Amino acid sequence: MTSKNIVWHHHSVTKEERRKKSGHHSFVLWFTGLSGSGKSTLANALNQKLFNENISSYVLDGDNVRHGLNKDLGFSEQDRKENIRRIGEVAKLFVDSGQVVLTAFISPYKEDRELVRNLLEHDEFIEIYVKCSLSECEKRDPKGLYKKARNGEIKHFTGIDDPYEEPENPEIIVHSEEWSVEESVEHIFQYLKNRKFL
Ligand code: PPS
Repeated sequence: MTSKNIVWHHHSVTKEERRKKSGHHSFVLWFTGLSGSGKSTLANALNQKLFNENISSYVLDGDNVRHGLNKDLGFSEQDRKENIRRIGEVAKLFVDSGQVVLTAFISPYKEDRELVRNLLEHDEFIEIYVKCSLSECEKRDPKGLYKKARNGEIKHFTGIDDPYEEPENPEIIVHSEEWSVEESVEHIFQYLKNRKFL
C-alpha cells in the first residue's frame, strides 16, 4: 500500500524534453513467450541494431533481474505477478528517462501484461509475442530446464506444469520457429519505422 505521507515530485526536465534531446520516442518493447522461445536473443539483437542507429535503449531480462532487484522472488503465481509489476514500474522509469526499453520476461499471465500496459500511455507499450511451440522450446532446451521439469526436479515450470496465457492481441507476433533472428529483428524494426516510433 502507498504511504499517505509521500508526494509525487515533478522534475524540471520533462519526458518530452528528454525525447526531443535524444531525437526519438521512448517506449517499451515487451517480449513475452515460453522459456527458450528466443525472447532474450531477439531483445539483445534488436538492442544492438538500435545501438548502431544511435537510439538510446536498454534490455531488462528475466535471469538478470532475478539476480538483483527481484532476487527475493520465486515462480509462484504471486511472485511472478510481483516480478512483472516491479519490471513494469522500472520500464516506466526508463520511458520517462527518454529511452527505449526492451524487456524479456515470460510474463505468463494476461492480467499482469495488461497491468503494465495500463501503467503506460497508449503509444508507450508494444507487446511482442515470441511465438514458438512448446515442443520446439523443449527441443532447444538451452539451459536444460525442460529436462529437469519433466524429471520433476523443477516444479511449476511454464508450459509443463504451470500456465502460459497466449497474448490475444499483441502489436507484433514473431514466429521464432520459422524466422531467423535477423528476419525477426527486421520485422520489429520495420514495424517501429512504419508507425513512426523511430
Ligand atoms: S516470469 O514468469 O515472467 O516471472 O519469469 P521470468 O522472470 O521471465 O524468468 C524466467 C527464467 O527463469 C528460469 N526459470 C523458470 N522459468 C519458468 N518457470 C520456472 N519454474 C522457472 N524456474 C527457473 C528460466 O531460465 C527462464 O528464462 P527464459 O529466458 O525465459 O528461458
